[in-house]
Formats: sequence, structure tokens, C-alpha cells
Amino acid sequence: MKKINHDIVDISLSREGEERISWAEMRMPVLNLIKERFKKEKPFNNLHISCLLHVTAETANLIKTFITGGAKVSVCAANSHSTQNEVAAALVKNYGVPVFAIKGETADQYDGHVQSVLDFNPNILIDDGADLTVTLHQRLGILDKNLKQVIGRKVKTELELFGATEETTTGVTRFKALEKSKLLQLPIVAVNDSQTKRFFDNRYGTGQSTMEAIVRTTERLIAGKNITVCGYGWCARGIAARAKGMGAIVTVTEVDPVKALEAAMDGYCVLPVKEAVRNADFVITSTGDTDVITTAHFPFMKDGVIIANAGHFYVEFDYYGLKKMSSKIRQIKPFIEEFTLPGGKRIYALGEGRLINLVAANGHPADVMDMSFANQALAAEYLVKEQGKLQPRLYVVPDALDKNIASLKLQSMGIQIDKLSAKQKKYLSSWE
Ligand code: NAI
Repeated sequence: MKKINHDIVDISLSREGEERISWAEMRMPVLNLIKERFKKEKPFNNLHISCLLHVTAETANLIKTFITGGAKVSVCAANSHSTQNEVAAALVKNYGVPVFAIKGETADQYDGHVQSVLDFNPNILIDDGADLTVTLHQRLGILDKNLKQVIGRKVKTELELFGATEETTTGVTRFKALEKSKLLQLPIVAVNDSQTKRFFDNRYGTGQSTMEAIVRTTERLIAGKNITVCGYGWCARGIAARAKGMGAIVTVTEVDPVKALEAAMDGYCVLPVKEAVRNADFVITSTGDTDVITTAHFPFMKDGVIIANAGHFYVEFDYYGLKKMSSKIRQIKPFIEEFTLPGGKRIYALGEGRLINLVAANGHPADVMDMSFANQALAAEYLVKEQGKLQPRLYVVPDALDKNIASLKLQSMGIQIDKLSAKQKKYLSSWE
């Protein structure tokens, strides 16, 4: 085997990783169709694609698609705890991919890994949460306020970078802020904003895998329990629906009046967070926001409450604040820590406040990642096709491509739908 620069746990895990990759591949028919086309057209010949993604079996299939399309690919983890070490091993051994990802890596290792994939001078970045692109901006001094005058066309002259794609809501939010500050240097395709991504991956993927992770980790019965879900965006409504389906009594907290109204009319109890957490057996956050649950809330919670986060980063509930205010901390079993507050109340935090569905389960099922990664593959191809024509701003995947992904997915599920007749098309486009 050619020596490949990489940082993974153990290459001997590659056989198990390969099995996982092929198991996922069977449930990714849309991505497989794109891969077949890329095999003939080779849209990424002589290009390097650097990815910051959760290193899972589904991601491995996206990477295989890029390689089939002629690309060289490097990858680091989007989350220090989401890496499937055996998949990382298979990517290095069987596909020659420089992988920099270790489940449980430290913050310093994480940062170093991001730098390592940028060292390849990529032509395209595939981002999940914006860390890869933001780090590149920092490398070039673009986010250094004192250097504002030199930012100009630095990215264009120093690198041959066509642009980046962004997988998740938090990343899109960060890119919007960069764009607003006029500091964004690259075109970004907001894959998260495709209908075939966020309606399905965020809702059904996060919904199922979050409940799966919580049940797997805690081995508790959900039926009859009070569950507070913070947020009612795409992810949180998926979690609320799955919890309700398992028999929980679900309360929702929101800050957006429209979303709160939707939650109320979907049949949930809606309360301010301070009240909603009082009676909860489980609290699950998925807002993309910080300080949703703070140290001011913990003392009012029930003894034995279980708290998990399925939003982004580890800031939605104040894990470190909880640690600080506790008189005793005990690891009960993997991913469950018991925090005893002065006075004796016990609070159980899962997965150190990180995305529980990726930390304690295997993330989204391949069936939904099929659509998310079909969007990623087409978005990367779009950046190549449109190189030189795009501005440093946010783009969405063109609607026709989005609709095509939905049609192919339906086809793969054996579902047929009706087509508008010429008369109906005319009727629907007329003002009369
Ligand atoms: P969204 O924008 O659809 O929904 C977020 C909701 O949270 C909004 O309705 C907003 O009003 C609400 N919110 C904001 N601050 C709040 C607060 N303090 N209290 C209560 N509600 C609040 O976003 P989406 O797509 O649901 O994503 C949420 C987070 O989950 C993001 O950070 C995203 O990156 C992440 N995500 C996680 C995944 C996972 O696998 N766990 C998968 C996809 C996204």
C-alpha cells in the first residue's frame, strides 16, 4: 500500500468499515446513480476536494462518488465524537483517502486535523458547520480586522479555489454572518437549504437517530414520559414527532411565534423553557442557539432528569456550567454522566452535550443521507461548472436539481405520482 498521510485510530479496523460502507451504499440509490454518471463524465478530474464531514459510512459513499468522478479527496471530522473509526480505516486502506479523524479527539487534535486537510490546497471545500471555510479565511488573514485592506482577491490569487458547500443549518447561519460583514471570499452552496435535504435529513434523520441514541444509551421507556423539546425547527419537530409516536407527553419551547403556533396546532403543549423543564423526565435541545438551558434552570428540574442535545456544538445546554455547579460527578456508563447538585438533586447529561445522535448512535440512516449527499455531489459539480462566474455569496442548489433528486428518490421507492396536464399548467399559471 502507498504511504498515505493520515491520522486515524487503527487501520486494521478496515474490514469492518468496508462492510458498513457497503451496507449504507445499498440504501443510497440516488447517490449511486450520480456516481454512475460521474464515472463517465469525470467532472472532478485533477481536482482536490477537502471535506469536513462526520466520518461515517454514508460520508464514505459521498467520498467514493467524488473519487469516481476523478477527484482526489481528503477528510477530517465535523465533530470530535462522531467518527466511525472503522470507516476511517477503510477509507485510508481501500480508497487511499488521507483521513484525519479519531473518535474522541481533543480540541487541539480537531484543529490540527482541519489544518491538515487544508494543506492539500483544495479546489473545493465540503463543509459541515463552517469550520473548514472559516479556518481557511483565518489562514489567509481575512478575518484579522487589521488586515482588512489586503483581503481583496487573496483567495483567487493564492489558491485555485472554486468555492465551498455547506451541509448544516449552523454553518449556513455563520456564512450569512460572514457575507453580511463583507468578509466572505468564496461562493458557498447552502446544501442545507435544499428541500430534499432539510425537509428529510433534519426532520426524519435527526428525529429517528436522536430518539434511537437516547433509548440505546439510557435503556429507559419513553411511553408515558414527559419530554421537553427545545425548538420547533426542522430537527426539533422530527424529534417531537418521534417522541410522541413512542408515547411520550411532549412539551415544546420556542422563540419564534409562528413555529410556536405550529407546535400548538400540531397538538403539543407549548411553554416558556423555565416552566417546560420543571416536570420533564427528558429535555432535548435542537435550536442551533446557545444557552437554551442554563445554570439558572438546572435547580428547578426534577431529580433524575436526562438532558441531551441534538442541535449543534455543545453550547445548547450549559454542560460546563452544570459541571461547575455540581458537588459530585459520576460516569454511570458510556455517554451518561451523573451530576449531583448541592442539596442532592441528580441530573444526567448525555454525550457531554454534543450531538447525541452522532455521539451515541450512528447518525442519520443512509436512506436520508442519500438525498443530502446527492445534493452535495451536485453542488460540488455546480461549483466546477460555474467556476469564475459565481460571486462570494451564498447560493442554493438550483430548484430543478432539487426536484430531480426528489423524483429519483420516489422512483427508487417505487412510488409514482401524477403529472400536470397542459390544461392544468395553463390554468395554474393564469391570473384569470
Ligand atoms: P431551524 O432553523 O429549522 O430551527 C431552529 C429553531 O430553533 C427555530 O425555529 C428557532 O426559532 C428555534 N430557537 C432558536 N433559539 C431558541 C431558543 N433559545 N429556545 C427555543 N427555540 C429556539 O434549524 P434546524 O435545521 O432544526 O437545525 C437546528 C440545529 O440542529 C442546527 O444547529 C443544525 O446545524 C443542527 N443539526 C443537527 C443535526 C444532527 O444530526 N443532530 C442534523 C441537522 C442539523
